[in-house]
Amino acid sequence: MGTSPSFLLVAIDGGAASGKSSTARALAARFPLLHVDTGAHYRAITAEMLRKGVTPGDLSGVESALAGLRLGTRVTGSAAQMEIGGRIQGDEIRAPDVNAAVSHFAALPAVRTALLHYQRGQVEVAKSHGFKGLVMEGRDIGSVIFPAADLRFFLHADPVERARRRAQEGQLDSVAERDRLDSSRKTAPLTCPPGAIDIDSTHLTLDQVVDRVATLVAVRLNPVPPAP
Ligand code: CDP
Ligand code: CDP
Repeated sequence: MGTSPSFLLVAIDGGAASGKSSTARALAARFPLLHVDTGAHYRAITAEMLRKGVTPGDLSGVESALAGLRLGTRVTGSAAQMEIGGRIQGDEIRAPDVNAAVSHFAALPAVRTALLHYQRGQVEVAKSHGFKGLVMEGRDIGSVIFPAADLRFFLHADPVERARRRAQEGQLDSVAERDRLDSSRKTAPLTCPPGAIDIDSTHLTLDQVVDRVATLVAVRLNPVPPAP
């Protein structure tokens, strides 16, 4: 376990309700890492499109709406949130209409390209706020956004268990349908990239998942010096 990287990149991907956000949040609470939830980026853009009456089938409408968006980042504690026109979107990004539309907007290359640049830029945001690294979660972080990340995790869980988790949160959401759309799209599909560390959380508690991931992060951040 050589030296510690000067900036640690941790990627967490997985299907809906596989535990990405909870795990990333817990890591950012334990280590000096900035937490970036990229699902919230896709959700915020979707909410904005819906507000403007733009549909995913209207490509020129989507492109001109994207060109007019002023994206920024607000850091609160260890979490980064995307601002659109200086404003952070609230719970509306978890509303049923956004749940139903988000995978359709997320399949559009124009939307993904806009967010790829924004998401890679989060490294500079983290550095400028003094963080030692970044934990970014989504669908394509270890495959497309940061394929050379220091640690890449892919969380699996049985779809029935994931639907149960969402329902327990009181969310109206078709987890399996979003997974189907996200896995079958041409651009940056949901997939476990070769070399990523695969964790099946179906029968694990959140704490057990966090402990597994945190053990590996701790080794990278504080490597044991070689014996004299
Ligand atoms: O929380 P949950 O796992 O249900 O979803 P999310 O992470 O908030 O992501 C919402 C949607 O955004 C996903 O179903 C994908 O369509 C899209 N997404 C994506 O395409 N790529 C990412 N890196 C993150 C999210
Ligand atoms: O971000 P993602 O959609 O992948 O999942 P999440 O929002 O972190 O987790 C969805 C729900 O499942 C949360 O209420 C978690 O507490 C719960 N969960 C769980 O019960 N067991 C796990 N091993 C992981 C998450």
